Amino acid sequence: MPHISLRQIRIFDSVARYKSHTRAAEKLYMTQPAVSMQMKQLEENLGIELFERQGRSLSLSHSGRKLREYSNHIINAFDSMIDFADKVKGCHTGHLTISVATTANHFTTRILSAFSEKYPDITISLDVTNRQSILRQLDNFEPDMVIMGEPPKGHGLLSEQFMANPLVIIAPPNHPLLTSKKPLTIKHLDGEKFVVREKGSGTRECIERHFKQSGICCATTLEMTSNEAIKHAVSAGFGLGIVSLHTIELELKNRHLSILDVAGFPLERHWHLVTRQGKAISPVAEAFRNFLLEKAEQYVSQK
Ligand code: PGA
Repeated sequence: MPHISLRQIRIFDSVARYKSHTRAAEKLYMTQPAVSMQMKQLEENLGIELFERQGRSLSLSHSGRKLREYSNHIINAFDSMIDFADKVKGCHTGHLTISVATTANHFTTRILSAFSEKYPDITISLDVTNRQSILRQLDNFEPDMVIMGEPPKGHGLLSEQFMANPLVIIAPPNHPLLTSKKPLTIKHLDGEKFVVREKGSGTRECIERHFKQSGICCATTLEMTSNEAIKHAVSAGFGLGIVSLHTIELELKNRHLSILDVAGFPLERHWHLVTRQGKAISPVAEAFRNFLLEKAEQYVSQK
């Protein structure tokens, strides 16, 4: 393999740009013979002629022009790599202010714990609240970023979808519908009692929309602000519940709750990382974004 250095590629780029060894040498703070020597070595190592001389002026040969396209790519990729490393280095200390939807808290704390292990000098404020309150915070430019269900359009929000959030129907293990011989459809839920999240919850909004579209009427027995409370109420026999699959890992394992298999379920939602347009993204926030987008799926149960 020919031995070619990044330095030679940069010198080649400079000579091609200024069409002169002397001018390239001035720009690179080198002597002209050193530049000429490097270009001679590059041509020898590649085994092709890169330049043509026309009097005192130098121009790229046909192969030289093609090679310049490659050298541009190499230089850009190298510079991006250094920029990236600088960004990461710059974010070793600082503060991250993040808000997450109640439901997202089940996996966010695990991700934050791994993030903290990697960046021990970054301090974190985490607010766990429902969708409505998160939208208000974004309006006021409060958090660096938030994790929530798909945000509404047209509120000056920038959003990146990063992971599925399946909503499943949960039942106590002795619920009669679990032993139904016929495949269950949404019609079988008509008249069932449900334990639901509070108004303002994204999960609740999604379920209400789905039931309305399907023409189903369900009675609400209890309204609660936490998924933990819903799970306890469902296993105590207050009714069925609909929660994110990401919140019931333990209960499925311990068989305290079962998933009711109804056509059309799970309802497909997605998690989004959302920032407010116009709010500067700090290097710390950028580091968290990269960490989350790369690793989120490792921290949730895929069932
Ligand atoms: P939430 O979940 O129900 O905890 O507000 C967020 C969402 O799914 O939008």
